[in-house]
Parts: sequence; C-alpha cells; structure tokens
Amino acid sequence: MMIDGQIEVIAGLLRERGRARYGAEAVSQLQHALQCAAWAEREEAPPALIAAALLHDIGHLVADDEEAAPRGIDMQHEDVAARYLARWFLPALVEPVRLHVAAKRYLCAVEPGYFETLSFASVRSLMLQGGAYDDAGANGFIARPHAAEAVRLRRWDDLAKDPAALTPPLEHYMMIVGGLLADAPSAH
Ligand SMILES: [Fe+2]
Repeated sequence: MMIDGQIEVIAGLLRERGRARYGAEAVSQLQHALQCAAWAEREEAPPALIAAALLHDIGHLVADDEEAAPRGIDMQHEDVAARYLARWFLPALVEPVRLHVAAKRYLCAVEPGYFETLSFASVRSLMLQGGAYDDAGANGFIARPHAAEAVRLRRWDDLAKDPAALTPPLEHYMMIVGGLLADAPSAH
C-alpha cells in the first residue's frame, strides 16, 4: 500500500474509533493517544518513541480487524498492535508498543509505590495480564531489546488520562508517524 494511504488508514482508526472511551478512564482513546504522545514529545523522546506513544493502544482500535482474535483481545491488545504495526514500522516503534503491558508488570515488581499510582482500571487489567513480575520475570523483561523505552512509554501511558489536558492535534503526530513509515522496509 502507498505510504499516504497507510497514514490515512491509521489516522482514520484514531479519528473514528478513537472516539470511544479509553476503558473505564475519563478520556477517549484519541485523547489518551494524543496525551501519551505529548508526554513523549515533552520529554524529548526520539520520533519512533513519540509515534509508539501515539499508537501504543491501537490494538484496541483494530479489534475487529480480521487479524484480531474476537476473544481475548482485551488481554493481548499489545500483541495485536505489534503485529499490526510490524507490517510498516521498525522495531524501535513496534517493540515498546509490544512491551508496554509487560512494563507495567515490571514497574510493579521493582518500583516501590508504583502500584499505588495506578488507576482502578489499570489495576484491574494488571490482574488479567498476570500481575507483578517475580524477580526472574523482571530480570527477563528488562534484558529484552527496547524494554527501557517500553518503561518510558508506560509512565506516559499512566499519565495520559487527564480529561482537562490540551494537546497538539492528531495531524502534528501523524507527520512524525509518516516520517517513520518512509523508513520502514516494507513501505518500499
Ligand atoms: Fe494506554
């Protein structure tokens, strides 16, 4: 598919299906995505990680995509997203997305007080996702490529639930995504 066409598909997913509420949080999926990307940009993350922040929950939006299993989607949205994004983007974008749920399990294991900062919805999903890692799980996670970026993404994810936050528009971030698409091997 042409690059411009793919950008439109992704932007359309965020614009149309992104109007749905982000789980039990007080923001929409699109607001959550934009706030997450805005945090990444504010903290001077590289473009691939800003784009990962924008797209990290796209697994929820492609849920009726033919690839997505109709059941179990809530528990594996990070894998759905990674499979979807890996068709067009490099691992610097795909892997932090794939690992952003595991990063929550990691932070719960290694950072005192982190668990207490999680929203009710996030705690509930943590239980479905396997709970905090044990020592071996935490060590195994942080040794994976792009795990550190996934931890950064996770912190922005946790912050990106503010109903009053203002962000740049989607188009601003789609420019960044478009630049990365042009670098991806299958885009040529
Ligand atoms: Fe999220």
